[in-house]
Amino acid sequence: MKRLTQSPTEPEFTQNPYAFYDRARSHGDLFFWDDYELPMAASFRAVNALLRDRRFGREPVEPRPFPDHLAPFYAVEAHSMLELEAPRHTRLRKLVLRAFTSRRIATLGPEIEVLTHDLIDAFPEGEFDLLPTFATRIPVIIICRLLGVPEERADDLLHWSNAMVSMYQARRTRAVEDEAIAATEAFVAFMRDYVDQRRGDPRDDLITELIQAEEEGEKLSTDELISTCILLLNAGHEATVHAMAIAVKTLLEQNTPTTALSPDAIDATIEETLRYDPPLHMFTRHVYEDTTLYGHDFKRGDEIGLLLGAANRDPDMWDNPNQFDPARQIKQNTAFGAGAHFCIGAPLARLELKHALPILFDRCPNLTIAAPPEFGNVYHFHGLASLIVKR
Ligand code: HEM
Repeated sequence: MKRLTQSPTEPEFTQNPYAFYDRARSHGDLFFWDDYELPMAASFRAVNALLRDRRFGREPVEPRPFPDHLAPFYAVEAHSMLELEAPRHTRLRKLVLRAFTSRRIATLGPEIEVLTHDLIDAFPEGEFDLLPTFATRIPVIIICRLLGVPEERADDLLHWSNAMVSMYQARRTRAVEDEAIAATEAFVAFMRDYVDQRRGDPRDDLITELIQAEEEGEKLSTDELISTCILLLNAGHEATVHAMAIAVKTLLEQNTPTTALSPDAIDATIEETLRYDPPLHMFTRHVYEDTTLYGHDFKRGDEIGLLLGAANRDPDMWDNPNQFDPARQIKQNTAFGAGAHFCIGAPLARLELKHALPILFDRCPNLTIAAPPEFGNVYHFHGLASLIVKR
């Protein structure tokens, strides 16, 4: 397997990881990334197959030791479906899917449109950052409403969530860990109160449905409910904020004609923005069974990285993959993963993009990028630090 070196925090790389991906893919399906000390899958066929292969999973073969001060964070992860495999993953996912129905999601379209109009009405004059004024507000407010969390707490959720996500940084400091732990404790306390309140006062919201959801006579425990709500609140906006901002950036940079946002073209355009520059680039998997794949011997207990962003630019899958083409008809792309952990929120994320983007471009026909957009330096959360525009 070819060994490659590339610091994941080098600014040139975090701004544009795709040249490195092209180089990595030219060596075959897998390569060894020295900086992570892990084999990585970079071709579409390998990433897609490994996401679906049940001999690979998110839960480590042996529980990983962690320092005592991180216990509150790992206590939340211990009940999070994203970190588990069958049978606990299957049970949690089924229970969540009972509450997180496509019927409930589909009704949100008009609400997203009203919110989009309100946000545009409040845009400041001159140059401004589209992240706090638009891209962040829509996913955060919608996930709060869906779960039944008061919108006035949206800023707390954002703060807690950002601090928790920073635990996934390649090289984190003790200060980052301490902030993440404080945020986790505050988030858990908030959710515990909230779940208690809803138990005594059921409403028409997702938290109530999660409390009531039952699968083969089993319900979610309080710890599972808290972890699931935190997962939905975090996952429900982190990636969508970035997908929204990157979509606006791409559409503006590529001078995309507004016909690409018309009702019959918008679905394909959104899929292409997610293929071309997805917000999540790397997830890892643990190996559960010895096996040989793509010429590499995997041993039980090994770990491998799956590069979603590299798979989405594979020339064996798409013609001219480094070109943005909103008319491209995409049947599969790895932005939302695949297999057992396929993103539960994909229909919601697509709905938010589909209802918000046409209104933004219709009401702001002269929208332009006013300063070079920069990605943050947490490479696998591929998100813009800001998007300065003017109307
Ligand atoms: C899982 C991407 C929005 C909830 C995932 C995974 C990906 C992903 C790649 C799979 C991770 C893996 O296989 O290891 C995205 C992207 C989004 C987005 C790109 C926006 C554009 C959302 C939203 C929600 C959500 C809006 C919830 C409201 C989840 C959950 C899982 C998940 C709960 C875990 C599923 C499981 O483990 O079975 N997402 N997501 N996501 N996503 Fe999303």
